[in-house]
Amino acid sequence: MRFPEDVPVLTDGVVTLRAHTADDVDPAYRICQDPVMQQWTTIPVPYLQEHAVNFLTEVVPTGWRENTMWAWAIEYDGRYAGTIDLGDGEGGVGEVGFALAPEVRGHGVMTRALKLAVRYAFDGLGWERVIWRAFVGNYASRRVAWKAGFRGLVTIPGGGRQRGVRKDEWVASVARDEELEPQGNWWTVPELDGGGIRLRALRDSDAQRVMEACNDERTQQWLSGMPSPYTLDDAKGFIAGRQDTAASGEAVAWAIADAATDELLGNVSIFALKGRHDPTKGEIGYWMHPEARGRKVMSTAVELVVAHAFRPIEDGGLGRRRLVIRCADVNPASAHVAEVNGFTRVANERRADPRRDGSYDNEFTYDLLADDYPAR
Ligand SMILES: CC(C)(COP(=O)(O)OP(=O)(O)OC[C@H]1O[C@@H](n2cnc3c(N)ncnc32)[C@H](O)[C@@H]1OP(=O)(O)O)[C@@H](O)C(=O)NCCC(=O)NCCS
Repeated sequence: MRFPEDVPVLTDGVVTLRAHTADDVDPAYRICQDPVMQQWTTIPVPYLQEHAVNFLTEVVPTGWRENTMWAWAIEYDGRYAGTIDLGDGEGGVGEVGFALAPEVRGHGVMTRALKLAVRYAFDGLGWERVIWRAFVGNYASRRVAWKAGFRGLVTIPGGGRQRGVRKDEWVASVARDEELEPQGNWWTVPELDGGGIRLRALRDSDAQRVMEACNDERTQQWLSGMPSPYTLDDAKGFIAGRQDTAASGEAVAWAIADAATDELLGNVSIFALKGRHDPTKGEIGYWMHPEARGRKVMSTAVELVVAHAFRPIEDGGLGRRRLVIRCADVNPASAHVAEVNGFTRVANERRADPRRDGSYDNEFTYDLLADDYPAR
């Protein structure tokens, strides 16, 4: 191909992909000074003007001429806003990479650009599959990929490389015959208020209270799968992991916070939301900080999350049809939370709930159906 004459112009009416010009060098250089850009990509740091000149006037044209990389300038609102590229493509499989100016982010620009580039990979280059890769933690990029139909996300420990250092990596892909639309749910964590408490997303500053709650003797007794002792690093890992389970559609976890002080009082989660055969169920799990027990806080928290769970997805809820709570038959405090919220005990499974000492308690299952719920 000749550059720039043969570079196809792709547009959806809002975002246009076109060949780079020398005028893009200055804005590209500025974008590459952004710390977020430096954190999540493999660009050189410090990033010099000569890097931008080399990339846009040498690397990009060579890619088009030699059929090894297909990079476009992203034009939005009448100006250069970033770059998107397709690379490799051998055997019909290649990768996509992208970056956008900080001031343009959050308006759906990259999702539009990605769909245009992926369509070109299939229809213009004849590829069978496009791969997206990002360093673990780059949720903005993951969300763009999810919105454009990338699926099958896996984490590869140490799979990425940045300036000589190995980093954990997410990989997902989309195939030629697959829809460029989101697959599965990406749950949000809405604030839910009532009865003097606020349910909100967990944050890093909750780590100390999480550690205290999870090291507590009774928490350790009834939730025997928890690390023991439960360290501050365990708490930080738990908090960081909640964003991942929400993004993958598996679970939503809230901090139960004091409405006045915002201090963490406990945790409530709805998990098992992706059931392979029946994605309409959910299980509720919880623990309280020992200082906050005995004040009906968990009963109120469960009442709030049950309402959220039964609300239709299109109204911002989880669209659940059936909820369950499980607890050991000898854990009356937990059973009480289920019962005051109208759950029915439907099973007593023998020797099903493991204790840390190797023994087992019987396990009660409580359930609540959406059909029963409006009548309450
Ligand atoms: C990744 C990037 C290209 C996204 O561009 P963008 O135009 O803002 O993307 P979009 O607006 O189409 O979509 C971004 C989505 O991520 C969401 N988002 C942003 N930051 C987020 C975060 N930290 N956690 C979760 N979601 C986040 C936005 O809300 C938006 O979703 P919404 O439209 O449903 O609200 C841009 O952030 C960027 O240039 N980052 C630096 C370079 C980079 O990371 N490149 C990718 C390397 S793999």
